[in-house]
Amino acid sequence: MAEKKKVHATKAHEMAESHKEISVSEFFAKNRHLLGFDSPRKALLMAVKEAVDNSLDACEEARILPDLYIELKQIKEGRFRVVVEDNGPGIIKEQIPKIFGKLLYGGKFHRLRCSRGQQGIGISAVLLYGQLTTGKGMYITSRVGPKHNSNYYELHIDTKKNDPIVDKEQVVDWNKEHGTRIEVELEGQYQKGKQSVDEYIKEIALINPHANVIYKTPLNETMNFPRGVNELPKEAKEIKPHPYGVELGILMRMLQGTDTTTLSNFLSTEFCRVSPKVASEICEKAKLSPRAKPKMVVRDEAEKLYDSIQSTKIIAPPTDCLSPLGEEALLKGLKKEVDAEFYCVITRPPTVYRGNPFQIEIALAYGGGLEADGAVKIMRFANRVPLLYQQGACSSAEAIIDTIWRNYGLSQSKGNLPQGPVALVVHMVSVWVPFTSEAKEAIAHYPEIVKEMKLALQDAGRKMSSYIRKTVKAREQRERVNLFEKYIPELANSLSVLTGEKPDIIEENLNKVLKKGMKDLLAVAEKAEETKIKGDNVAFGEKQDTLGEFEDGD
Ligand SMILES: Nc1ncnc2c1ncn2[C@@H]1O[C@H](COP(=O)(O)OP(=O)(O)OP(=O)(O)O)[C@@H](O)[C@H]1O
Ligand SMILES: [Mg+2]
Repeated sequence: MAEKKKVHATKAHEMAESHKEISVSEFFAKNRHLLGFDSPRKALLMAVKEAVDNSLDACEEARILPDLYIELKQIKEGRFRVVVEDNGPGIIKEQIPKIFGKLLYGGKFHRLRCSRGQQGIGISAVLLYGQLTTGKGMYITSRVGPKHNSNYYELHIDTKKNDPIVDKEQVVDWNKEHGTRIEVELEGQYQKGKQSVDEYIKEIALINPHANVIYKTPLNETMNFPRGVNELPKEAKEIKPHPYGVELGILMRMLQGTDTTTLSNFLSTEFCRVSPKVASEICEKAKLSPRAKPKMVVRDEAEKLYDSIQSTKIIAPPTDCLSPLGEEALLKGLKKEVDAEFYCVITRPPTVYRGNPFQIEIALAYGGGLEADGAVKIMRFANRVPLLYQQGACSSAEAIIDTIWRNYGLSQSKGNLPQGPVALVVHMVSVWVPFTSEAKEAIAHYPEIVKEMKLALQDAGRKMSSYIRKTVKAREQRERVNLFEKYIPELANSLSVLTGEKPDIIEENLNKVLKKGMKDLLAVAEKAEETKIKGDNVAFGEKQDTLGEFEDGD
């Protein structure tokens, strides 16, 4: 028998002893800031946000006009109970533990479709944070229809295994035909003002005018946000990935995981915009047989396939999968929540970043009750979700700062936000929003995205400046007339002495002349303004056709 060789323990052996697998729950429990739970104040907001996002997604997917009830109760100093209830489709009994008690579990990650959620972390992260800070789990009630039971669950997460632990499970009476209610206790802080839960709910109502929201604050105030429109947004369509957006590693994984039996079939069924003809062209360029088995394609061949995809002309992905709010709904939402004297909405045509279709909508409000001192107010949204944190890290900040607002009548120092009584809404709609982190707070700086935002901002800026010019001009004319009117009696008296005519007749005639002159003056000013706006639009239209060369500053 061969003698067993003695192993000399080295430092590497010693280090190997300490290596072990880390579960995703353990990782996020230690790194909760990555999910947005970095302060008690923000944690309270995140809990409401994740639950509300899910409720709105579920209602829209089931084509139900959303009715949401949100309640925050203060249990003691620094501890709150968050309640979010919806009238959505509900969740089937078997799914409830995994949805709430397992991180990276959800139905939205593997699809390309406009939805608020994408990662499958949101709501289980809320449970995890609640558990970490209070030791308690989450309480869930859900019902899928009037003929079904209402199921109640109390859940924890086993962080080592990233699996749910069911503490309690029972059928309960619930006076709701369908929907879901979650309750969770957590360490938090309630404060009004900027980046608060109140602000978030207000913005939710603005960007989701089809939702009816009732919100009860910890101070026992009830805020009602009734529906502004009675139609649901257009149904979001799911699309297949576009070949230009896929990375080599993902292509290799797709080749291994596909059910198709030929390369040509793989390309034309797993991607959008690849016809059998285009598939043959890609295979030919890569020097691979269209009949090759996808699972047999080795790494080097996959790389050739990848290169060949990049050099083949493939039409852009379809854009009917995007569901922007639209001018009317956005305007209604904005008017409902922002008191101003001038509003405008710009919707850019859909376009593509890294193979993903997206679209930018901008709304601008000016004057009225808006604060005139300080920087403009910015409200950012992605697929109808307000983004309250990381404003400076968002591509929208870059687009706003790089737009030359002095051209549109606002003051702005270089590299800073413009100043003035303006509220700006920037909304990105996409089948995949490229967030800079799992906390989904800021949109990444893809040049295509920044460019679209800038073009829309410039257009809104032009509309605002023409309004400012018009109203300011009219105001100045009126002031001049008022001044004249003040001197008419005095002038009439002097003229009466000189001419012998009665002062009241002279006064009447002078008033007539003034009125006519004023009318003519305003008509001339208006005509000049119209010509200027027309000229502006023509210039803008021309520049829009050559997007790449467009620069602000005209
Ligand atoms: N109120 C609800 N009604 C119906 N289904 C729900 C509800 N809340 C969650 N779900 C389901 O649970 C899944 C997981 O939700 P979770 O918030 O963890 O992830 P997500 O929404 O898919 O992505 P993200 O991490 O970006 O929020 C969702 O994909 C959805 O299918
Ligand atoms: Mg979610």
